[in-house]
Amino acid sequence: MPTKPTALRPARSTWGAATAVLFAALSTLAACGGTGTDADAAAEQAVLVAQGRQTFRHDTFGDEAHWTDTLRMHEVIASAVDPLTALSVGLKVDADALPAEVAAGIQNGSIDLRSTATTVALLKLNAVVGVKGTVETLNGVDRLTRVGITCALCHSTVDNSFAPGIGRRLDGWANRDLNPGAIIALSPALDTATKAALRGWGVGKFDPRLNVDGLSKPVVIPPAFGLDGIHRITVTGDGDDIAYWNRYVAVVEMGGLGTFSDPRLNLSVTHGAQDLVSAKLPALQAYQLSLKAPTPPAGSFDAAAAARGKLVFEGIGQCASCHSGAHFTDANQRLHPLNDSMAEPESPSYASRSATRQYRTPPLKGIWQHAPYFHDGSAATLEDVVRIYNTKRSLGLDSQQVSDVAQYLKSL
Ligand code: HEC
Ligand code: HEC
Repeated sequence: MPTKPTALRPARSTWGAATAVLFAALSTLAACGGTGTDADAAAEQAVLVAQGRQTFRHDTFGDEAHWTDTLRMHEVIASAVDPLTALSVGLKVDADALPAEVAAGIQNGSIDLRSTATTVALLKLNAVVGVKGTVETLNGVDRLTRVGITCALCHSTVDNSFAPGIGRRLDGWANRDLNPGAIIALSPALDTATKAALRGWGVGKFDPRLNVDGLSKPVVIPPAFGLDGIHRITVTGDGDDIAYWNRYVAVVEMGGLGTFSDPRLNLSVTHGAQDLVSAKLPALQAYQLSLKAPTPPAGSFDAAAAARGKLVFEGIGQCASCHSGAHFTDANQRLHPLNDSMAEPESPSYASRSATRQYRTPPLKGIWQHAPYFHDGSAATLEDVVRIYNTKRSLGLDSQQVSDVAQYLKSL
């Protein structure tokens, strides 16, 4: 979908009142934190992280220009997307944003989840994760006038504590239930061929390069956690820090107002006359770096098998020659040629569409959370991953060793 430059609009404030109070408190702390410079630095960092969280969850960077003015998603949502439909394409509802009477109404069935008016009401409450709606009330009737997306759409899910798809936010967790292609294909502004290509992407996948080269081969949505200390960002290590890619996504993919350019991609994109992206990047990066990879749920792996698997991983499996160090990656030292990816050869090759034309060894902490595996999602389970390595790299592991390595991966 092409993102076209759009007219200038005033920035909308996205700071919630509660967060504003928190900032004020933290800023005061930062300003008069006494003599301890460590305390000052920690307070400043806390302010930055809190701002970044707000941006990650709620900021559209003015991308309504794309999702509303160009794709007209507000029309489709208001006319055809009831909450059950929204949940079925992987959208999530933030239970903490639901007032008690709404939560009760959903539970006792008095709120109709088959009505698009309920979707509009949820957007008005800012309860749909990663989707920001502007709702105007005229003669007592709510109307959805603008819609935009945020980072949380793809990189957050919920814990299902209220109901499937409704719960507390889990920021940084890849939303592998989300079907971005199916959602974007609802746009009345797209032609039939584009819609067919988008519908072919499948669940949990998105092609962040389609806008640039017009090719369509999606990659799985990765987590945004566990990246502190890793200085090659994305599957192909295009950027040295998260801010590089955050700028790319905010401008080129989401259609936010600002500028991205990279001579390696022969790419220079500007949306709007105003920059709603640059000033937010330091805080956004600080927030993402604060997100730790989640530890595996209790009882989710066999500890004895995992201990045996660790020896294979570090020994005859040769995994640690690339998945090395505390983050299980050599990303800070080197990138890898195409055939080091077990998903290659593929057509078109994802790496060949990137700035580096190589692959990064991905970090493995929290890997249990985000099946399927490899950038194209071609390995459904961690057992499949090890089986594929065993065959393609002729490791000669027996089935017990394959299973032990998979248990080890589940324990990371
Ligand atoms: C429509 C879905 C979508 C949205 C919205 C989105 N991303 Fe992503 N993100 C992806 C996909 C797909 C990739 C994988 C691309 C790659 O690695 O080449 C990715 C990769 C990343 C990575 C790299 C992770 C790693 O392991 O190096 C980071 C960081 C990231 N996104 C942050 C963000 C931020 C911040 C925003 C908001 C400004 C955002 N994303 C919005 C889909 C999305
Ligand atoms: C030559 C370097 C190298 C070796 C050796 C290697 N890997 Fe990898 N690994 C990579 C690269 C590069 C990728 C990314 C491939 C892709 O996404 O296309 C990857 C991807 C993975 C993934 C998927 C990560 C994700 O986020 O989807 C897992 C799991 C994994 N490797 C485990 C292993 C195990 C287990 C071994 C040993 C049997 C191993 N690797 C050996 C470089 C290596």
